[in-house]
Amino acid sequence: MTNVHDHGPSWTLYGVLDGGEHIERFSRVDDNPTEEGPAELKTNGEFDVVPGYIDVVPPWEIHQEANGDHRTIGFIVRSQRSGTFKQYRYDIENGDIASYNGPTQIPYDLV
Ligand SMILES: [Fe+2]
Repeated sequence: MTNVHDHGPSWTLYGVLDGGEHIERFSRVDDNPTEEGPAELKTNGEFDVVPGYIDVVPPWEIHQEANGDHRTIGFIVRSQRSGTFKQYRYDIENGDIASYNGPTQIPYDLV
């Protein structure tokens, strides 16, 4: 299970090819600035993504993904390269927000 996070200002398309994930979405209900806490979150729905499904994650959408004990193969299309912008992690218990650079990209030459 991932931490609760957003993808910052970027759009993400997450397509599932095999396996699946459970997604939970959250909304902020506090009036604090986007990049500052404390953040008060409320659950905003949850659903399963299965093969053939493409999950669209808009900018600043707060969510959490859980894979379970099976393998999942997916592809991710981002509107911006990870590492070039800040993303945020949210602590549901105390409202803390932490910024990070997103997942580390591993270059791979297609031959
Ligand atoms: Fe995510």
